Amino acid sequence: VDAGVILGIETSCDETAVAVLAGTEVRSSIIHSQVEIHASFGGVVPELAARAHDQAILETVGRALVDAGLGLEDLDAIAVTNGPGLPGALMVGVASAQGLALGRGLPLYPVDHMEGHLFAAALEAAVALPALVLLVSGGHTEMIAVESPGRYRLVGRTKDDAAGEAFDKIARLLDLGYPGGPAIERAAAGEVDPDLVFPRGMRSEGLDFSFSGLKTSVMSFVRTHPEVGVTPIATAFQLAAIDSLMIKVERALSMAPYASLVIGGGVAANELLRDRVREAAKVYGIASAIPSKRYCTDNGAMIAAAAAFHRSLGDPGVVAVDADPQRML
Ligand code: KG4
Ligand code: ZN
Repeated sequence: VDAGVILGIETSCDETAVAVLAGTEVRSSIIHSQVEIHASFGGVVPELAARAHDQAILETVGRALVDAGLGLEDLDAIAVTNGPGLPGALMVGVASAQGLALGRGLPLYPVDHMEGHLFAAALEAAVALPALVLLVSGGHTEMIAVESPGRYRLVGRTKDDAAGEAFDKIARLLDLGYPGGPAIERAAAGEVDPDLVFPRGMRSEGLDFSFSGLKTSVMSFVRTHPEVGVTPIATAFQLAAIDSLMIKVERALSMAPYASLVIGGGVAANELLRDRVREAAKVYGIASAIPSKRYCTDNGAMIAAAAAFHRSLGDPGVVAVDADPQRML
């Protein structure tokens, strides 16, 4: 079933993102970043995020349509992230989507932000099922088994901090700025020092993740070793963080048969993680699905892709939608 032309709107955190998906083709994907607004605070300020979304949303919708070479009259459906996320930020996207859908008489698809991240890989290639999906963002760290289309089973999740949150906090500690993930990755360009090793969270137990021990360990090391430079610390931290993820991914792969290993979320833009995921898939003789970096971090295309999937199953959409900041996949 052709899902038609879908406008995807994403405003759950600090990117005002809008994309046009036509069938399986991303016709445009515009991301209006708020990084400059939040940088001096070292993290996202919710009230400022909501106001910035409000100021940017209409222009971003317009740019996405112009870039796609289409008009509002060409759309078949509107998709919008309605949770999880920051309440005020979500409300801007939801209200705009609602207005457009009502105005044009189009069906509206409220999309779970994490299901969006899960569909980023599907924008570029068919994903073989059953798939093990590692979703790693600023607010979430979880492994999900997709046994058949739309059937998700939580395999493991973080007991404390999200992986991206750990990158952001350590970047702040090392004065590397915001957002922390890319800053740590740039700083972590050193040789691995075998004598500087940070802990891998809950290494020997189960499929859940933990990053608070790693964070505390780096903090106390920095306090007690002011003479050690940023590069070796960032290098050792990044290795420990990615290892903490991969130990659980490999354990999950060893416990059940999967046809592919998929990653999504902002941390999936990390080169070391991408390499390690490719290697692990190779070892298990399965496919890896690693989205382009522009589809790892928040974007509207992944939201439209999740809605396209629901449309292909016959979901007619809804007329009205509310923000659901605590939404769970
Ligand atoms: O998915 P996302 O754009 O927004 C959320 O849904 O949270 O993920 C943002 C998170 C931030 O914590 C950011 O520091 C992290 O992803 N991130 C990275 C990299 N790029 C973004 N972490 C590690 N390495 C990167 N290259
Ligand atoms: Zn996200």
